[in-house]
Amino acid sequence: MSPLNPQAIELNESIGQVNPCVLDMLSKRGHGIFFPKKGILAQAAAAKGKDINATIGIALEDDGTPLCLDCIAERVELAPGEVFPYAPSFGRPDLRATWREMIYRKNPSLAGIEISQPVVTSALTHGLSMCGYLFADEGDAMIIPDLFWGNYRLVFCNAYGVRLNTYTTFARDGLNVEGLQEALLDGPPGKKLVSLNFPNNPTGYTPTEAEAQQLRDVLIEAAERGNKIVALIDDAYFGLVYEDGIMKQSIFSLLADAHSGILAVKIDGATKEDYAWGFRVGFLTFGVKGATTDLYAALEAKTGGAIRGNVSNSPNISQSLLNMAFTSPDYNVQKNEKYQTLRRRYDKIRDILAQRTDYQEAFRALPFNSGYFMCLETLDADAESVRQTLLSDYSTGIIVANGVVRVAFSSTPYDRLEQLFDNIYKAVKAIQTR
Ligand SMILES: Cc1ncc(COP(=O)(O)O)c(C=O)c1O
Repeated sequence: MSPLNPQAIELNESIGQVNPCVLDMLSKRGHGIFFPKKGILAQAAAAKGKDINATIGIALEDDGTPLCLDCIAERVELAPGEVFPYAPSFGRPDLRATWREMIYRKNPSLAGIEISQPVVTSALTHGLSMCGYLFADEGDAMIIPDLFWGNYRLVFCNAYGVRLNTYTTFARDGLNVEGLQEALLDGPPGKKLVSLNFPNNPTGYTPTEAEAQQLRDVLIEAAERGNKIVALIDDAYFGLVYEDGIMKQSIFSLLADAHSGILAVKIDGATKEDYAWGFRVGFLTFGVKGATTDLYAALEAKTGGAIRGNVSNSPNISQSLLNMAFTSPDYNVQKNEKYQTLRRRYDKIRDILAQRTDYQEAFRALPFNSGYFMCLETLDADAESVRQTLLSDYSTGIIVANGVVRVAFSSTPYDRLEQLFDNIYKAVKAIQTR
């Protein structure tokens, strides 16, 4: 490895002076990265406001507005300046401030706890990938339940050489917190990457309030024993919780100030919770006990640097639109309407499962209470064969992964839910009697 750039050394010192554990959590790439304050960016900043500024790497009209094609501009109501120029690598400052404020509003337990400024990513997959960049070295293990979003393999295993250390997701119809505890306490203390994704893809499970406290306790216990824990909190489906007694705030709110040996990294964004899948806007936000503004600024600078060397920056038009939406007086009402659309389907599935007790001969629903999905364990029938039969004989598509059926009620019309479950039942029955 080439020697570290002095700007990276400076950031590492800012982190290490406040919290040496966090410095140890960084990967080799994470140690080396920095956001270049010198060079082109510094020279462009120095030229700001000068009579003639020939530094900017976009094209401007003679009147100083961005040069743009009318066939694009006439379809967009936003001012060209909000759309066409680059956004900063860290994201638009207005959007970052808005999202930070929203994190506090949506998670009242964070009151009085300092968290970093969110850094904008090109949605959550990119945010996860940047976590791999900053925290994962070849051969590092990630502790993760055995039912997880399959793309974690490409993001962490293929790209950064991470090994997934899985534990059984559920125990006694609830979260297998003991499984997580065993995985955390196994082996000598050291850096531990832990994935926490609630509401979960694929299961649609979010911990109860009590389970969330237990999760926090086992992470603190592991940190007390000298582990340095990077908690990767994937909040893609945040806010879509349909039962009482279930954790409505992010688990980030319990971990952001839990222990100096636990770095809580919140990976969230507009994709699923604001129904803006193609916008490609997400956020990375850090929380660790005893952090200072300097420590957070250094982590943000490393994240900004990783982004600059990767996608450079995230789409300006999407960031502008979202900032306007989040500050619109109609936002909360409209968001609640869409929540109700999903919630009605969730309630309908609960009704179907309660009424059709005969379905228990064919499948068992895994615990679910939130999100876009729920899972079924097929009985005496291989899930992949069920999927094939559903496609060929019932014109019905479902996902099978990790040996279970995943039903996306997010994308199934309310009126088709009964038929969907009936088709699954019939397909399982057909295979059982083959
Ligand atoms: C748990 C989870 N995290 C992250 C993502 C990726 O989201 P994005 O489209 O914002 O990259 C998904 C998408 O399916 C997901 O299910």
